[in-house]
Amino acid sequence: MGVFTADTGHEQVVFCQDKESGLRAIIAIYSTALGPALGGTRFHPYASEEDAVHDALELSRAMAYKNALAGLDHGGGKAVIWGDPQRDKSEALLRAYGRFVESLGGRYYTACDVGTYVRDMDIVSRETRFVTGRSESNGGAGDSSVLTAYGVFQGMRATAEHRWGTPALAGRRVGIAGLGKVGKHLTRHLIDDGASIVATDVSPAALDWARTTYPQVELVQGADELVRSEIDVYAPCALGGALDDDTVPVLQAKIVAGAANNQLAHPGVEKLLDDRGILYAPDYVVNSGGVIQVADEIHGFNFERAKQRASQIYDTTKEILQLAQSDGVPPAVAADRLAERRMAEVGRLRTILV
Ligand SMILES: NC(=O)c1ccc[n+]([C@@H]2O[C@H](COP(=O)([O-])OP(=O)(O)OC[C@H]3O[C@@H](n4cnc5c(N)ncnc54)[C@H](O)[C@@H]3O)[C@@H](O)[C@H]2O)c1
Repeated sequence: MGVFTADTGHEQVVFCQDKESGLRAIIAIYSTALGPALGGTRFHPYASEEDAVHDALELSRAMAYKNALAGLDHGGGKAVIWGDPQRDKSEALLRAYGRFVESLGGRYYTACDVGTYVRDMDIVSRETRFVTGRSESNGGAGDSSVLTAYGVFQGMRATAEHRWGTPALAGRRVGIAGLGKVGKHLTRHLIDDGASIVATDVSPAALDWARTTYPQVELVQGADELVRSEIDVYAPCALGGALDDDTVPVLQAKIVAGAANNQLAHPGVEKLLDDRGILYAPDYVVNSGGVIQVADEIHGFNFERAKQRASQIYDTTKEILQLAQSDGVPPAVAADRLAERRMAEVGRLRTILV
């Protein structure tokens, strides 16, 4: 996808290279209509430069929508570092990257994503002020999965209320695919609320965690079995593309609400869900607790303040589901409309000179 030929309207795309350290990074800013762009840095061995650019463009656009509906004063941006994080990551490379982030003068704030960790952001922060997701000992917000899971739980409660008239998940059976950082916290919230859990993971360590921590969790062999089992709610918490042409027709759940990014495998899946009467809580709305957590760090991290903000995912989810109903569109479409409305209405205020 060419940057200028793509019909996506990105504001700025920056190519950064430092040959000595091996840094090759692309920083994409989709929009600063609501404030400085915020989004993580993905460190990935892309097959080609074109793939890396494509990912940066897609991911930065998605962040603009996520940040808009999270109620943040942040636009959308994302960066990719083209390389193998196992082999190529070094102090020099991360610091070179930090200097490029700094050179944007605050138009873009970075954070962790796939292939980058809190300890990496600590290193990046030695070269730039415009970084979040640092360790707690370094003034950071720490592990963002805490509020991601909390936000997913709130979004799930709102969806349950829309569907069944009560937000309580007590007595409901929830299927969780992926007992990683977010899935584990989500399991705790749901069990505390009185739900029963059936779960799956490909990692033996994650399954062991469930057996020892919550022996009442029923474990099944893979997501295929999970979606076919008698569940009320499906929570994809592993990788993207969990909802596709094979999964949706056999899915037993009446609600989908989970943490994974890009759950809809392709455009049109939201309609398949709608046609089957399955209420889909848009992924980027319910999983925004993590970005809310790291955005708070910019103002000096306060966990209670961030948690309060993540609680609003409940109201936002309800608003989207109501809009979907009144407009007669799937919730994913309603979410995009609401995000675009906020970017346009609040973004326009910047034309008032102060
Ligand atoms: N951590 C956050 O703050 C955050 C924020 C927003 C979105 N997300 C998204 O939520 C999802 C989970 O994030 P995480 O931080 O818990 O990641 P994680 O890597 O800690 O956990 C993912 C888990 O999924 C399991 N898994 C992988 N493939 C699987 C499969 N085919 N079937 C079942 N299980 C499988 C892994 O073994 C792992 O236990 C990801 O899609 C991530 O992009 C995370």
